Amino acid sequence: MVRATWRTRLGFVLAAVGSAVGLGNIWRFPWLTATNGGAAFLLLYVLVIVLVGVPGLLGEMVIGRRSRRNPVGAFGALGGRRWRVLGGVAVLASVVLLSFYSVVGGWILRYALASATGAYFGNPQGYFAAIDYGVGAAGFHVLFLLATIAVVYAGVDRGIEVATTVMVPGIVVLFGALAVWAATLPGSAGGYEFYLSLDVGYLRANFVDVLVAAAGQALFTLSVGAGAMLTYASYVDEDRSLAADGTIIAGLNTGIGVLAGLVIFPLLFSLGVSPGEGGPGALFVSLAGAFADLPYSRVVGVVFFGVVLLAALSSAISIFEVLVSYLVDEHDLTRSQATAGVGGLFLVTGSVTALSPSLFALLANTVANLVLTAGLLGFLLFDGWVLGKAALDEYEKGAGPVARMVGLPWYYAVAVALPLFLAFTLVSGLGGVVGVSVTAPQAAGVAVVGVVGAILLLRTTADAAT
Ligand code: PFF
Repeated sequence: MVRATWRTRLGFVLAAVGSAVGLGNIWRFPWLTATNGGAAFLLLYVLVIVLVGVPGLLGEMVIGRRSRRNPVGAFGALGGRRWRVLGGVAVLASVVLLSFYSVVGGWILRYALASATGAYFGNPQGYFAAIDYGVGAAGFHVLFLLATIAVVYAGVDRGIEVATTVMVPGIVVLFGALAVWAATLPGSAGGYEFYLSLDVGYLRANFVDVLVAAAGQALFTLSVGAGAMLTYASYVDEDRSLAADGTIIAGLNTGIGVLAGLVIFPLLFSLGVSPGEGGPGALFVSLAGAFADLPYSRVVGVVFFGVVLLAALSSAISIFEVLVSYLVDEHDLTRSQATAGVGGLFLVTGSVTALSPSLFALLANTVANLVLTAGLLGFLLFDGWVLGKAALDEYEKGAGPVARMVGLPWYYAVAVALPLFLAFTLVSGLGGVVGVSVTAPQAAGVAVVGVVGAILLLRTTADAAT
């Protein structure tokens, strides 16, 4: 079977932006910003995106385009059979991600509908508490999943490309309009102050915590580490510059994230709602509660949650596609069989997550960050020490003069600097999960020993193979 490719360059870029822009920008980003010191978080987040996210994204895309396969097949084809396990980690990460993502997608769908009737206006807190988990939540998760299935079923070029080409510009226009409107609300200035003015003292006192949170969020928002960008890049032709496309994708994603903040914080402050009310319900309780007090509240609610729904859908599609491409490539299923099988899987895992608040919290808060960080760490070590020069070759295909100039620095970053950084955040994050307090020097020590050990091991096995 001939492997599908994107019809247009714009199609790929928009599909990848659609993957990147999602609940991470609108639901997770404001919540993390609020609980990590506002502008302090924003600053580190943008730095990590530029210094780690973009080169990491390119590292992942290089593997997809070079192999033209799904993650499992890609590592097997490029590195040999035993590397397939690295693709297996990506497949597992995708299962983890969509199992909770689709539950939040279900919440969004429900709020879009409930905005039209004003169902949550009287008691936002009580409404969210009544619908967050349980059979109803599982039902809406299934509806959200069905919408995802419909687009993926239609295929890469006819389904995903067409859908995201409409969705992404729609998201930008509607969020732009909402941001302008939010600026006109009385009291919105406090929101800009919180969001954009830096508290250096806070940053100094909490540097590592803020950095770890910013790093996890940077990977989540760029969709790296789970094989989604690898899979999308496997449908890209060789005459395109991955570096240029990757920079555009990250730029648009970060721009839309910052724009979401320019809607959410002014809105919250204008209504005197504290942005620090954390937890997964923050967006729903405080923001939905805020809508209730506004003129045209139903219209605002429907438009807002409608846009978020589009954004969530285009991300869910990319996670789903990882598994479909795996089954089609590796197990010779047709696209419809694969879509049905993956749909059945998520029907179960998402429903279980919708019924269990503790499972939901575990997946959404910690496991997601850890699997993405571990996944990207593996991908980059693979680029640096298994593909080696071939990774740089692939990067340079179709690249313009500027991208070529930074090719070598990119390669060293991917082979050494980024793995060290990712290992550091992974160890610090793991410490938090298992309840052991790890100091920054300790985490750095473990990271250096681990990464240097892994590199030595990879070099010896590579030498033995040649
Ligand atoms: N980037 C998406 C978001 O910000 O909502 C989430 C995501 C999609 C993460 C796809 C990872 C992934 F592979």
